[in-house]
Amino acid sequence: MKLPLVGLGTYKLQGDTCKRVIRQAFDLGYRHIDTADVYQNHKEVGHAIKELPRNEVLLATKIFENDLLPERVEKTVPRFLDELQVDYIDLLLIHWPNPQVNLAETLEAMLAFKGKGQVKEVGVSNFVRSHLEQVKGLPILTNQIELQPYLQRRSVVAKCKELGIQVTSYRSLAKGEFENDETIFAIAKKHGKSPSQVALKWIIQNDISIIPKASSIEHLKANIDLFDFELTSDELKQIDQLDSNKTFTSYGGTFED
Ligand SMILES: NC(=O)c1ccc[n+]([C@@H]2O[C@H](COP(=O)([O-])OP(=O)(O)OC[C@H]3O[C@@H](n4cnc5c(N)ncnc54)[C@H](OP(=O)(O)O)[C@@H]3O)[C@@H](O)[C@H]2O)c1
Repeated sequence: MKLPLVGLGTYKLQGDTCKRVIRQAFDLGYRHIDTADVYQNHKEVGHAIKELPRNEVLLATKIFENDLLPERVEKTVPRFLDELQVDYIDLLLIHWPNPQVNLAETLEAMLAFKGKGQVKEVGVSNFVRSHLEQVKGLPILTNQIELQPYLQRRSVVAKCKELGIQVTSYRSLAKGEFENDETIFAIAKKHGKSPSQVALKWIIQNDISIIPKASSIEHLKANIDLFDFELTSDELKQIDQLDSNKTFTSYGGTFED
């Protein structure tokens, strides 16, 4: 399975807003919907995706770190199917590695559901190279990590490429910081795009998928309106220079990739 370059993140989308945003996203052409147990919106997401035939939607969700023991995975996946009101999940991810748990055993338990047709692909999130080493050889579709021009994660991205694992970027918009970046602003002006769009384009031109969350129709449109321009190799290099290991999450990660 090749992930679409642009999907929709649903962290903090709740209730009717969540349903409305997913419907609008479908109208705009989004087909990959990313949720997680901890986002507490499985019911709304499941309701909203009924808008399209099931096989046209790529539904991804994540198991949180307290449910990673194999016996917990066995109980968690049926609960997810029930909450999401689906027969299968397209992509099931480990949300965060748990140092107390054997990650290969967790993935084996997840893969057992692939055998039953209830999960199509499995993946991981927030894995650095040492975690990827622990699960080497298992069929992992993607590693979903925080990544954007100020946090380019080159070592872990190279490791994913070496292992044939697709990379998905989250928090790609760096909480709006690119709007004030002189380099990105100048490039955006040349292309008639916003600085946030240029940052997203830099990510997808590096063959990394994005799942930006948006609640306004303007942002939803902007985040998929990325295919009518190309950044030049010089512009890509200018943005490469902006890497500064700057995280916009508060998890206290060290990014010793
Ligand atoms: N695996 C993990 O551990 C993990 C962690 C965090 C997130 N995620 C996933 O990744 C998704 C995206 O991350 P995120 O939600 O943290 O952050 P994000 O997508 O980088 O940013 C979302 C914020 O940016 C605004 N925005 C959206 N499009 C914009 C645009 N074109 N210009 C300016 N501002 C824009 C949104 O505003 P409005 O809502 O007002 O439109 C919202 O406040 C999540 O929803 C979730 O699915 C995964």
